[in-house]
Amino acid sequence: MPRIFSGIQPSGELHIGNWLGAVQNWVNLQRSYETLICVVDLHAITAKYEAESLAQRTREMATSLLAAGIDPDQAILFVQSHVPEHSELQWLLNTVTPLGELERMTQFKDKAQRFESVPAGLLNYPVLMAADVLLYRADLVPVGEDQIQHLELTREIARKWNAQFGRGETFFPEPQPILTEAKRITGLDGQAKMSKSLGNTIGLLDTPEEIWQKLRPAKTDPARVTRLDPGTPEICNIYHLHQYFSSPETVALVAENCRGAKWGCLDCKRVLADNIIATLKPIRERALGLQEQPERVDEILGDGASTARRMAGETMREVRDRMGFLMAAPPALSSRVQRGLES
Ligand code: AMP
Ligand code: TRP
Repeated sequence: MPRIFSGIQPSGELHIGNWLGAVQNWVNLQRSYETLICVVDLHAITAKYEAESLAQRTREMATSLLAAGIDPDQAILFVQSHVPEHSELQWLLNTVTPLGELERMTQFKDKAQRFESVPAGLLNYPVLMAADVLLYRADLVPVGEDQIQHLELTREIARKWNAQFGRGETFFPEPQPILTEAKRITGLDGQAKMSKSLGNTIGLLDTPEEIWQKLRPAKTDPARVTRLDPGTPEICNIYHLHQYFSSPETVALVAENCRGAKWGCLDCKRVLADNIIATLKPIRERALGLQEQPERVDEILGDGASTARRMAGETMREVRDRMGFLMAAPPALSSRVQRGLES
């Protein structure tokens, strides 16, 4: 069965952008593929972050993923830092990664602008991502469009490593992306990618009131100044969102009423708000239930980490061997007795 790996940072809430762009796909794919879903806390520390809340945010992200339908009986859900092999493999892969490629990554160039002194971790972020995927020798990586460039680099790293250490074999498969139709959801500002750091999101766990308060001032067709102006749905982000949350009949009605200036933008948003609220209701209810039992979430993550570690351990034994390291011998019995491990 082909293997899928994907990751999400615990740096913010799950919102309708990363849900439509990636998470919903994971939920659908977990039935047909061996699926690993990782909360990538080691990636999250490459941006400025609060150490005090990292653990809580990590648990919250796992809770949201479970509420969104990741099923621990079908997928392996775990936290990146619980499997130290991710860090180890990223170090080894650093040695075959061209510096120029890292400097060329658009996300690096964007994010580097936020720092006076750019941390090396930000530059090496895509190497850790390559390690995540290659550690499990995954075939497919369901992500949004913004991760395509990182995945191209992952393939290059795999090729370079295979050429140098693969002993004529394709030890690391070159992972391919899987995109959804919603590969880039625009934020409520109608311009930038929906992203927590830009404050232009609708959270998956937002209350009905919050959803309406966020949607009400959202940008629509800029040429439509008054409700008497006919609109152009194709250039309106609210119309695009209707396509993910409303029935085909409603989408057709929205387009017709917009073009004919029969509805104002607020009317159109009200219908969208109701449909988003109805779609997210079961997710919100499941999340509220899980928030009452954090120990259950921790237990699921514990099980996930133990399965992932077993898989990662197998890969790393091969990797260390192929890269020529001296294998650590098990401690001799006498030294185990001395250290009180055995009598
Ligand atoms: P992030 O929330 O940035 O850690 O991203 C998690 C996953 O969601 C990645 O696969 C992203 O490519 C995807 N994603 C994030 N934001 C969006 C968006 N606005 N539209 C589509 N996909 C997204
Ligand atoms: N960089 C991804 C993002 O910001 C998250 C991520 C980390 C990831 N490791 C991964 C995604 C491995 C897919 C595969 O969204």
